[in-house]
Amino acid sequence: MNRLFARLSTLHRSVPFSLRLQLAVWYTMAFAALLLLTGAVFYQYLERSLEASVDTDLQIRAQQIASSLVLQHGSVALSNVRTTLPGFGTTNPAQGVPLADVNRGALVRLLDAHARLLGETPAFRALPAPAASVTQPLQGTPWQGTILSTGGQEVRLYSRTLTAGGKPVAVIQVGESLATLHALLHQLVAALFVVGFLVLLACAVGSYWLAGRSFAPIQRLAETARKIKAGDLSQRVPVPPVRDEVQYLAVTLNEMLHSLDQSFSRQRRFVADASHELRTPVTVIRNKAEVALLRPRSQDDYCTVLHSIHMETERLSHLISDLLALAHGDEGLACFERETVHLDRLVESTAAHAEGLAQERGIRLSVQASQPVTLIGDEARLIQVMMNLLDNAIRYTHSGGQVQVSLQATASQAQLVVRDAGIGIAPEHLPHIFERFYRADQARTHTGGSGTGLGLSIVEWIVRMHNGSVGVSSQIGCGSSFTVTLPLLPPAQKARRALGSDAS
Ligand SMILES: Nc1ncnc2c1ncn2[C@@H]1O[C@H](COP(=O)(O)OP(=O)(O)O)[C@@H](O)[C@H]1O
Ligand SMILES: [Mg+2]
Repeated sequence: MNRLFARLSTLHRSVPFSLRLQLAVWYTMAFAALLLLTGAVFYQYLERSLEASVDTDLQIRAQQIASSLVLQHGSVALSNVRTTLPGFGTTNPAQGVPLADVNRGALVRLLDAHARLLGETPAFRALPAPAASVTQPLQGTPWQGTILSTGGQEVRLYSRTLTAGGKPVAVIQVGESLATLHALLHQLVAALFVVGFLVLLACAVGSYWLAGRSFAPIQRLAETARKIKAGDLSQRVPVPPVRDEVQYLAVTLNEMLHSLDQSFSRQRRFVADASHELRTPVTVIRNKAEVALLRPRSQDDYCTVLHSIHMETERLSHLISDLLALAHGDEGLACFERETVHLDRLVESTAAHAEGLAQERGIRLSVQASQPVTLIGDEARLIQVMMNLLDNAIRYTHSGGQVQVSLQATASQAQLVVRDAGIGIAPEHLPHIFERFYRADQARTHTGGSGTGLGLSIVEWIVRMHNGSVGVSSQIGCGSSFTVTLPLLPPAQKARRALGSDAS
């Protein structure tokens, strides 16, 4: 855990920006992109609609001019136009074209049906109107477009015909400089930039502040967790009342602390129990050796002492190998073989092995395992399961009693039952007998304390590693029955395995 915190603090040092700052930068960048996009769309839309309104204006003006024109003998009389448009007329090229500005005065030009100039306003002289703006209306379709003046300014031009008796008699061209419109749009862009910058600034400050507020509970959690790393795993981080991600994090942290606390105290208890169990035989051996060495003794006395020392060392080595097996199991280092195990044969042979011990104690041992049962597992460890259960059954049964072993199988599982008519287990001990070092009191008195209390823990672990389960039912004074259930291979898999082994 300390290493985890060290890693976190190096990480914290190696990242130059806090998460809060990073979030604020991301928010602001995303908002800036959004603002830019909205601004661009808004600008485009506004430009289009302003241009459309200029076009409508031009069409109305052309219509007004058309209605003010009077036809005399089939040709257009310009007197009305001249009064409303100052300077309107034809230019004599010999007099030279005066300097014209499309922004000064109206932009109007009139041509006859043969595209000859009838008259134009002074400002129009700066406008090189394209030929299509005359030919297209004469063919029946009004023309409109944006053209550049000689001064390089954009001008919107609209061109239509005046008809008499269904025939075109004149072409009316009206224009308007887009300079004012562009100036307006530029002003708008400048204003948008200023407002956008202010909004972005507010967004940056706001998101930094908001991110700070959202991270405050996490900061508090981290501070509490930092205090806990000092070693007191019974502490818990405060769980905020609001049901959000921080509450989920706090609950997860607390669950993690709880399971760490439990596994640490389990580990501590295991070490304490193990040292206690190891100390007893070692003390016995030392005492016996010390007493024997006090004075010279006969050959028989030495033999007796050595015999009892041998028994204690035997118990000690059993205890050590049990402890090692469980420790390996805890660390996940124990590897289980996956081989075909003939459980019926295994039960028979283990029972035959235990027969000697049973006879020695005057106990009748009977086995019922006629049905062949095969499964995939670790044979040596399954023998250990059988031996531990048989050892208990024989150990906790009075002389003259009976122990029965039976093996049955269904299509999916095998059931091994070891039943004895022994001392039984009191109901208050039953839930604990699979715990490490747990021994019922009567077991200690009955066997003179020779057990270690690890046998059933090992049985439970091995069976669990085979995906099986172990259960017990017992009545004090009547006996106990241990049932081990192990899953078998599905028939299809079995057939495949058989084929595979045939082929090999
Ligand atoms: N067949 C049994 N009959 C009565 N008590 C039993 C039997 N098997 C187990 N026990 C009880 O369960 C306890 C734990 O068993 P085990 O883990 O094998 O430890 P040990 O046999 O070394 O005491 C025993 O101390 C005993 O109290
Ligand atoms: Mg035992």
